[in-house]
This record gives sequence, C-alpha cells and structure tokens, in this order.
Amino acid sequence: MTEASEIRPKKLFIKTYGCQMNVYDSDRMADALAPHGYEPTPVIDDADLVVLNTCHIREKASEKVFSELGRLAELRREGRDFMIGVAGCVAQAEGEEIARRSKAVDMVFGPQSYHRLPELVARVGRGEKVVETEFPPEDKFEHLPAASPRVIRSRGLTAFLTVQEGCDKFCSFCVVPYTRGAEQSRPLEQVLAEARTLVAAGVRELTLLGQNVNAWHGLDAHGRSVGLGELCARLGELEGLARIRYTTSHPLDMTDELIAAHRDNFKLMPYLHLPVQSGSDRILKAMNRRHTRADYLAVIDRIKAARPDMALSGDFIVGFPGETEADFAETLSLVHEVGYASAFTFKYSIRPGTPGADMDDQVPEPVKAERLARLNALVTRQMRDFARSCVGRTLDVLLDKPGRLPGQLGGRSPYLQAVHLEAPEHLLGTVQQVLIVGAGNNSIEGKIVTHAEPKGASVIESQAFA
Ligand code: SAH
Ligand code: SF4
Ligand code: F3S
Repeated sequence: MTEASEIRPKKLFIKTYGCQMNVYDSDRMADALAPHGYEPTPVIDDADLVVLNTCHIREKASEKVFSELGRLAELRREGRDFMIGVAGCVAQAEGEEIARRSKAVDMVFGPQSYHRLPELVARVGRGEKVVETEFPPEDKFEHLPAASPRVIRSRGLTAFLTVQEGCDKFCSFCVVPYTRGAEQSRPLEQVLAEARTLVAAGVRELTLLGQNVNAWHGLDAHGRSVGLGELCARLGELEGLARIRYTTSHPLDMTDELIAAHRDNFKLMPYLHLPVQSGSDRILKAMNRRHTRADYLAVIDRIKAARPDMALSGDFIVGFPGETEADFAETLSLVHEVGYASAFTFKYSIRPGTPGADMDDQVPEPVKAERLARLNALVTRQMRDFARSCVGRTLDVLLDKPGRLPGQLGGRSPYLQAVHLEAPEHLLGTVQQVLIVGAGNNSIEGKIVTHAEPKGASVIESQAFA
C-alpha cells in the first residue's frame, strides 16, 4: 500500500468572515491540509473539521463567532463528531477567552500559524486542546504548500495574493495592528513565484492584498529597495496575466512610483480603493490617520493626473467619538467633492484595547444610525450615477464566470463592476470589448463589440483544464 492510499479522505468546512485577506487565508489553510487528506466540502454536516476564520474589526463581526460556536456545540451535543477550530483575527485577539467560553472548541490559532495547522490537528487528535496565538519566528509563507493547478483553476480565473500583512499605523479606532501584528512585506521573489504558479494554472487577474498593501516594499535582484509599482511592473511581464489590482491602500503610501505605475502599466486597473474614513480634519486627527482632508484630495489629484479615468472607492466611519454634526457635514462634502464609484460605510464600533474605546464623547447609537443613513443615501446615488455613466461606453471586460442563463457569461469591468452579457462559453477567460447597454443596482449589462478569439496562454489553459 502506498502512503497516500493509507490516508482516509476527510472533509474540511471553512467559514470565512471579514476581509479578502481572510478569503485568501482560508484557501491557504485548505492547501495546508490537502496533503493530509482533507478535502473541502460546502456542507457543514459532512465535515470532519470545521474552521471558523474570524474577523474582529467591529463588535458585530466578533459576536457572530460566538453565536456560530453555539450552533456547532449544539450539533456536537446531537452526536455529530467533528473537530472545531477558530482561526483569524478574533482567535488572535481573544484566544484564551474563546477556549474558556466555548468548551466545544478544540483549537484556536492566529493568522501567523496557518502553516502549522496539520500539526495542530494532530495535537487535537492526541486529546490536547490547542491555543496558538504567539507570532512564530518562521515565515509561514515559506512553509505553506502551493495549491495544485486543478485546485487553483477550480477557484476561478481571478485570484487574491497576499503580499503584505500587518499594520504600524495604529488608527485609534482599529484592531488590525493588534490582530495582524507589525507591518511585513513578503519578499519580491516569493510573491513572483506564487504569481507564476497561479498564472500558469490559468488565473487571468490578480488582486494583491495587504492591510496596507501600498506600503509593500522589497529588494530586487540588485539589492535595491523597490515598491509596489515595481512589483506590479514585474507581474505585468507574466504573459497570460491580463489584469492587476491591489487593495487596501493608505493615502500616505501612494508614492510617486506607484502613481506613475498607473500611467505606465496598462495591466493595472483604473480602480482604486483608497479609504479616508472622515472628511473632517479634527476627526482625522483624533483617528490618528496622520493625513488631512487636503492631503487626501491632493493624492487623488496626483492619481487623476497620471490616470484620468481612475475610479475611486472608499471606506467611511460615522460617529467616531467627538464627531459633531459639522464634522459629519465635512464627510458629506468630501464625498461630494471626490465622487465615488463605490464606497463602504460603517458606524463606529468601540473596540476594546484601542485608544478610541477610552475617548470621551462617544456618539449615541441613534445619531450614528441617522448619519449612516444620510451617508448611505449619498454614496448609493453616486454608485448608481457611476454605473449609469458607463452606459454607452465600450469597456474591456474579463469574462470570468458562467452567466445566469444559458448562452450568457459573467465578467468584470475595469472598475470591478459585475457585467452580464451574451457570449459563447469558449470565450471564458478572455478580455472582450463590451458596449455597456444598461445599468442595474448591482451590475451592468453589455454586448460584445469586437469579438477577440482566445489566443496564446488562455487557449492552452482551457485545453489543459477541459
Ligand atoms: N487598512 C485599511 C482598512 C482596514 S479595516 C485602511 O487603512 O483603510 C477596513 C475598514 O473597516 C476600515 O477602512 C474602516 O472604515 C472600518 N473600520 C475599522 N475599524 C472600525 C471600527 N472600530 N468601527 C467601524 N468601522 C471600522
Ligand atoms: Fe487599521 Fe489604520 Fe492600519 Fe488601516 S491603516 S489597518 S485602518 S490601523
Ligand atoms: Fe477583519 Fe482581520 Fe480582515 S479584523 S477586516 S479579518 S484583517
């Protein structure tokens, strides 16, 4: 008998909360366990191991974990036999507390320990209850196995690639510096190697991820320090890769080099998520954002000078401690001034251990809710206006998934809008010029104008994976 055939196939169910980084991490956890016989299942009832990959960013996000753990404990009481792991940012922040509060949990482990997952599972198998929230000395990325081409392909034609983790900025509302640790960049060659593997398996669009992705820096072959613009240039050389995106950026790290890349690198998409949080200088200062409203607007001017068709998205927090109606009006006026293609809006949520939690003048909940509603009305209008402004334009659309109806495909515009159109299946994975003919609430509709047949890498890929 070979070693592989001795491994009994087991089923892994991972539930992912939070940001794209957790989505990426969940896949890497699955990759770490694959050589040990674990196959992903979408059905929790089939699972031998359930992992909750958690988010700590707002109180609601954290609470979800405990209610989900309650449900899992109930399943176990009903006689279902499976292992329960809690990963991600709540695990990192509240490791011991989770283990204490939920007896059903077998292991709690933070984001820097994912390469050790097989070992942690083995320890649980030996009857241990595991809490692993130290930051290990070794680089997890050196130890995480790559997914097979078949698995990469099954995850789709677009992929996330984490290039940077952690944050040193310490905005006064935010838990990330505590849950993800100090800012760290993955080495250039390590990132390029992973990108090559993804692209060779058929990935056409990469989104580089980091809590402060534009703070990424590395050393090139000559030992020179390079930034994200250079990384994107090197990725641009990968034949077969059609598009590059990155998220999330901090305004202070939009360097000249990166902005120039938006002018020079045609694979870099003209869509940028650049959170500002507030339009009031007083609140930005209290948030420890270390930039003013004018700084933010100046960054946008520089970006638009390099790439006039750049569309922007942002994050906003309403009701930060001390925020007055006048401060909030400044946020509304900033949103008017910038004009966003998309935006994410949040009520300030008190996070224990952050400076914001101890500030006086916490804003009452109804005031936060009322401000959020006003801000949402504005950004929803802007998002709709942006979608409508695309009608009549011809946009490059990457056809990346099957459509809702037979004879249709789904795609993404340069601005990350979902696009629906009539197209034959063999065009999956190609970029087509599409005339936009309609705009709905969450997607736009188009018609292919010039019909570019698949060529080069994508043909070989689709044959290889047919
Ligand atoms: N690194 C990114 C943001 C990471 S967190 C940046 O610097 O912009 C994602 C978003 O969650 C933030 O942009 C912020 O808008 C929101 N957020 C973070 N902490 C929050 C809190 N305590 N309450 C409400 N929203 C919060
Ligand atoms: Fe959080 Fe600020 Fe760091 Fe973004 S820059 S992750 S908001 S501390
Ligand atoms: Fe949440 Fe952690 Fe991401 S707190 S937003 S999962 S970095």
